[in-house]
Amino acid sequence: MTKPLEDKVAIVTGGSQGIGRAIVERMAEAGARVVAGDLMPPADGALEWCTLDVTDEASIANFIEETLSKHGGIDVLVNNAGIMFEKPLEEQTADDWDRMMAVNLRGPFLMAKHAAPHMKARGGGAIVNVGSIEGYACNPNHTAYAASKGGVHGLSVALAVDLGPHGIRSNAIAPGWIDTDLNRAYVDRHPNRELVVEELAKLHPVGHIGNPADIGDAAVWLASDAARFITGQLITLDGGRTKQLSLPDILRS
Ligand SMILES: NC(=O)c1ccc[n+]([C@@H]2O[C@H](COP(=O)([O-])OP(=O)(O)OC[C@H]3O[C@@H](n4cnc5c(N)ncnc54)[C@H](O)[C@@H]3O)[C@@H](O)[C@H]2O)c1
Repeated sequence: MTKPLEDKVAIVTGGSQGIGRAIVERMAEAGARVVAGDLMPPADGALEWCTLDVTDEASIANFIEETLSKHGGIDVLVNNAGIMFEKPLEEQTADDWDRMMAVNLRGPFLMAKHAAPHMKARGGGAIVNVGSIEGYACNPNHTAYAASKGGVHGLSVALAVDLGPHGIRSNAIAPGWIDTDLNRAYVDRHPNRELVVEELAKLHPVGHIGNPADIGDAAVWLASDAARFITGQLITLDGGRTKQLSLPDILRS
């Protein structure tokens, strides 16, 4: 049986660890040749990796060229690289804000700009942007992160409109709480890790937080022909967390 991404070439930013790595692995299992672009190589060296800083346009151009010279084209772009920090509004500097936007929002824009001509040359392609539930709901002190992710969702729609006539689809995934380094620090700063994980699980109708592979599977599907009529959409993958209304503890049975 043909695999869903057979003969496709995919590039995944921030592909060395966490969600990006799971996307790389799942896309490879689905038959794609996948290049992970990241500031650092995967710790175990097990993936095809190319150095990439999404804040640097020359680095992006080099990453695209390297992929083309090795694989002859690009069919799938996954904009996954991202950073997160929290700071009260009045302590946040313009430089903090600019850094967040440079990685999380300007990066995906530049990646799409540089990859699109090569997808057009192949007659089409797919872009998957990793946003966040924090693009439309958020925790305190997350102004820059939430704004950057809301921007990613908007960019994703705009790319769908502009690139649709060229056979290129663009969709965004909004992950909820996924177990990676990005948010592990939150859990680890509490002395009782097990209790934190238990309490977090209660926020999710499915009863647990997410794994990187949950996002990897959705990215494969969105990039594949099975999603051929889906573009400009935001798909939330959060175990139902943002659908569960909060209740005061005294009213919980
Ligand atoms: N983990 C979560 O709960 C969660 C939830 C919602 C959204 N997300 C989003 O998912 C994406 C991946 O997050 P993660 O949890 O796997 O994070 P992570 O910190 O584990 O991995 C991020 C990867 O991006 C790379 N990276 C950072 N800056 C880069 C740059 N300038 N150029 C190239 N690569 C760069 C890092 O080196 C790292 O390998 C991010 O966009 C994040 O905002 C994560």
